[in-house]
Amino acid sequence: MIPGDTWIPDDEQIRSLHRRLAPTAEAFELVYRHCQIVCRIAEQLLDRGGRRLDRQLVRAGSLLHDVGVYRLYDPAGVIDHANYVRHGVAGHQLLQELGWPERICRFCSHHTGTGLTRGDVIVQRLPIPVADYLPATEEEELVMYADKFHSKTTPPVFLTPEDCLTGLRRFGPDKAERFTALRTKFGDPDLAPVIGGHADR
Ligand SMILES: [Fe+2]
Repeated sequence: MIPGDTWIPDDEQIRSLHRRLAPTAEAFELVYRHCQIVCRIAEQLLDRGGRRLDRQLVRAGSLLHDVGVYRLYDPAGVIDHANYVRHGVAGHQLLQELGWPERICRFCSHHTGTGLTRGDVIVQRLPIPVADYLPATEEEELVMYADKFHSKTTPPVFLTPEDCLTGLRRFGPDKAERFTALRTKFGDPDLAPVIGGHADR
């Protein structure tokens, strides 16, 4: 059965997909946990901001946005850092192959930085098809924004708005400006309860 355009996968479907795609237990732990954290940040901002966004869609988008990372692991379980930027497009393709709706697939390809432009792809010689990858809906914007506050480094870390700005400035003043506009729109998350929470509710 091919899901219709408005179908949204539930938590269990998403979790089993992660389980199925993850090449190792460590990869699952790293990627799925990060997605859960991003989900919690996005939901908190949604609850506080009073915006009328589709909560179920934000939830699915947050939990799925990084599934493409699994495609970057080699058979030895080592991640291809040089091509890391490909994970967004890879995730989109992966969900498309499952027949999942475009609006779900887009969360993967439209969450990098504060949105990649065609110009970014060309100037930075990024290994992805030349196109604009800017969020088109507020749900996509929120997932992209929430993602900036947690990084899957070793060990994974939470980032303050100032940390995010410092990181984004390296890619140009327009990226920092874009982040500041998102801050004004969605607010700063309160990371303490997210850090203190249990990631596997
Ligand atoms: Fe992410």
